[in-house]
Amino acid sequence: MLTLLKLLKDGKFHSGQDLGAALGVSRSAVWKQLQQLEVALGIEVHKVRGRGYKLVYPISLLDEAKIQAAAPHLGWPVQLFDSVDSTNAEAMRLIASRSPLPLVVLAERQTAGRGRRGRKWVSPFGENIYYSLALRIEGGMRQLEGLSLLVGLAVLKALRESGVKAAGLKWPNDVLVGRRKIAGVLLELLGDPADVCHVVVGVGINVNMRATDEVDQEWTSVHLETGVPSDRNELAARLSTNIAAYLAVHQVQGFGAYMEEWEESHLWQGRAVTLLAGAEAIEGVVLGIDARGALQLQVGDDKKSYSGGELSLRLRNDT
Ligand code: BTN
Repeated sequence: MLTLLKLLKDGKFHSGQDLGAALGVSRSAVWKQLQQLEVALGIEVHKVRGRGYKLVYPISLLDEAKIQAAAPHLGWPVQLFDSVDSTNAEAMRLIASRSPLPLVVLAERQTAGRGRRGRKWVSPFGENIYYSLALRIEGGMRQLEGLSLLVGLAVLKALRESGVKAAGLKWPNDVLVGRRKIAGVLLELLGDPADVCHVVVGVGINVNMRATDEVDQEWTSVHLETGVPSDRNELAARLSTNIAAYLAVHQVQGFGAYMEEWEESHLWQGRAVTLLAGAEAIEGVVLGIDARGALQLQVGDDKKSYSGGELSLRLRNDT
């Protein structure tokens, strides 16, 4: 089925006969595979009697050579998957099997993409970026402090470079345009954070997705914001380049070096919010973050600090 997709990806008409010859199957087998493309991957195919088949929307598939060419000095190996449960889960398996690090896992689709707080990350085929970077962390806790916020900054920069100028951050690491989510970050840790450990930096970016019934919150994509389809290979390379640059400074100076930059891009700075922490809902006003990336809230007369992966912010009185 994916070989067929690769034959069709130029967006031009191809006859059933030519496709059958290229695949070494009959025309009716081509027809069956085309049905599967639509049902299994949600890819729409335009069928015209006498001309053949073409994709309704041309697709640009992930391409390792293009990603490497767009980030030539980085040297991070990239593993591409047509389909995987979760790129984070795959990166963890690669760490467990002692693959050389750092390495990047990218997939055309995820069948069990995971988001923060146990949520699902909607991951249709060929439309978005599902990216995981596996890293070995040697410097103990300090190298982990603020790491997920730092990755948010790197994602934000990549999005702005791709034309989404209005994108901003929501603590801890959502990237939004106004109220609509365009990207999310999920860090997963393996080993002892006080000693040598491994971290998987998972990034999901809505790139060319324009419609879905599955996302249960307000969302947008690079295509919806810029009005044109984006090259996912270039965006993936930009993402790696930016993460590497932010990490290099973080390793030496810690997250404190980025506090100001982060707060400048925080869309909810100074806003009245509710912080959801399990069953608890804490009402306060966002003061900013500290040098470890913890959220600073004015709660009544007190200034309080919050950190942890299970926390989530809502604007107060938001419906
Ligand atoms: C969030 O909830 O905002 C975080 C979403 C993170 C999604 C990405 S997609 C690539 C990587 N693999 C996963 O299963 N999740 C992350």
